Amino acid sequence: MQHLLGINELDKAQIEQFLSRAQEIAAQLKKGDWDNERLKNKIILHLFFEHSTRTLTSFEIAAKRLGAQVVNWNPETSSLSKGENFIDTIETLTSMKPDAIVMRHADYGAPLTVASKAKCPVINGGDSWREHPTQALLDALTMIDHFGGLGGLNVTIIGDIAHSRVASSNMQLLTKMGANVRVIAPKVLMPESLPFDNIKKFHTLKDGLPNSDVVMTLRLQKERMDRALISSDEAYFNEFGLTLNILDKYAPKAVVMDPGPLVRNVQIADDIAEDPQRSLILKQVANGIPTRMAVLDMLVGA
Ligand code: NCD
Repeated sequence: MQHLLGINELDKAQIEQFLSRAQEIAAQLKKGDWDNERLKNKIILHLFFEHSTRTLTSFEIAAKRLGAQVVNWNPETSSLSKGENFIDTIETLTSMKPDAIVMRHADYGAPLTVASKAKCPVINGGDSWREHPTQALLDALTMIDHFGGLGGLNVTIIGDIAHSRVASSNMQLLTKMGANVRVIAPKVLMPESLPFDNIKKFHTLKDGLPNSDVVMTLRLQKERMDRALISSDEAYFNEFGLTLNILDKYAPKAVVMDPGPLVRNVQIADDIAEDPQRSLILKQVANGIPTRMAVLDMLVGA
């Protein structure tokens, strides 16, 4: 495998390879005996055209823990602001021959375009509402840590399914790995078609939550809505916001996950976000490091 552009291009065996390498690295990190020179002399170029807290920092730490050097290119201070177009910018940067590119872009499929130009591995750190493969891998690692496996797990994703690349990659990965996936969203935020027919759609928490092992909340992706689709944050929270009360009522055994950004009291209430028993949110963030180390190791270290 040369690039990691999306979960759609991976089969179950390839997903398992990434996950078992991530588990191995997580165990080594715990013991302090990973190979911190594995990517020595490699230069990784970060092309983040969209803002990021977790993904960008986590890729940078992962690269540095493997001994690579990172160049963080910034679109706002680049020649894009002088009128240079995307393709010329990409051709310019790939001519400098980085050993890998990690990128995020608002346009659907932008990493595929870059991969067609680049002579090095391209790793997708999120494009439009299409794919965010390393997020789905780190989410899977977090569920495996907690439950021991993914097969037969009931995972319910609540929120802006239509505009979320996290939902898209997670629905694909979890279904390929044998989990039962459900999505809950208001009608305006539910896509017409889902990646697999056996993913079940619901429009209320009451109908969708029962028997969930994992409940994943998602942010309203307002920047990807062409008009206001939700009357107010408050109205959304009242109908779809996850509170401890709702969770205790409909899915008392479930743990809660959220890829962030965590918009409190819109998608998730303070009481759950801060509950160390119910929330795996910071574990997800921590698992981003071994997951991205595994991806870099397998693609760049090869
Ligand atoms: C997400 C993203 O940017 O795709 N966050 C993340 O990477 N952890 C989700 C979002 O922006 O809502």
